[in-house]
Amino acid sequence: MELLKRPRRLRTNPLIRTMTRETRMDASSLIYPIFVKEGNHIKEEIPSMENQYRYSVDMLPEALHEAADAGVKSVMLFGIPDSKDEFGSGAYAEDGIIQRALRIAKKECPEMYLITDVCMCEYTSHGHCGILNGDRVDNDATLPYLANIALSHVVSGADMVAPSDMMDERIKEIRTLLDKKGYKDTPIMSYAVKYSSAFYGPFREAAGSAPAFGDRKSYQMDYHNRKEALKETLLDVEEGADIIMVKPALSYLDIIREVANEITLPVAAYSVSGEYAMIKAAAKCGYVDEDSIICETATSIYRAGADILITYYAKELAKFIKDGRIG
Ligand code: PBG
Repeated sequence: MELLKRPRRLRTNPLIRTMTRETRMDASSLIYPIFVKEGNHIKEEIPSMENQYRYSVDMLPEALHEAADAGVKSVMLFGIPDSKDEFGSGAYAEDGIIQRALRIAKKECPEMYLITDVCMCEYTSHGHCGILNGDRVDNDATLPYLANIALSHVVSGADMVAPSDMMDERIKEIRTLLDKKGYKDTPIMSYAVKYSSAFYGPFREAAGSAPAFGDRKSYQMDYHNRKEALKETLLDVEEGADIIMVKPALSYLDIIREVANEITLPVAAYSVSGEYAMIKAAAKCGYVDEDSIICETATSIYRAGADILITYYAKELAKFIKDGRIG
């Protein structure tokens, strides 16, 4: 046969395959989410997320050093408070769980880049991501709270804030307050494209943040929509976001690609708790090989256009990248 084109030439051996890889990954683009709770000497496994833990503040440095040893350079902190109220006041309290976690983290592991999730659902008695007016989350009344929460994180040591509430114009509100208080150089990673998703199930169990009534569909996006993702993205770019996030990741690879094609800012993707739990469960049953699935799914997210990946598998991925298995 006289075939002129033989794509298999570039698949002949590992050397040429690695040389011609189209997707390159670096551990510096991984972000590892960590849950911090009240109490002392606590490291408790999250039932729906095997091998992920809730740490008390005193145990946080251990978790950070473990991540750093694996090659992870950035973490995203989530707080689980003991008490909640209607206004989520624990979210911006000076001695709140996240504020204390940030101070310890900065002191004990100064090389780690600290990002915080800015939201109210873990802190409100009703479990919604803002201030209620009747049974509806009041967008405009929520904005100053979000800005205050972001500010209190930055004051306590956060290197970057990531608002996940999905209120309209919160990026502008947060940017304006941070600038006014002198934090002009603190970046905002916006959860700009956040779908209302069943993939958050294990997280809500982990953080105790399920809404007490109703759902989040009046603020998080409808998964039927694609153009709306671009609308949300462009608004947040306009309002001063530094990084745009798409969440979840695996069922939204098309959206990651669209967003990456549309903007010049870095694009982050959050491979969420349900994605992690599905892989864990299938691996536990022996139906799939966990390490191979971790590598393949993460690579697909980067291939779709993500520059940054937030994942509960960050430590494993950092090792796979270092070993040259992927990236
Ligand atoms: C807070 C928040 C959630 C997640 C990140 N920030 C939960 C939600 O919106 O219900 C989900 C992360 C995950 O599932 O891993 N609003």
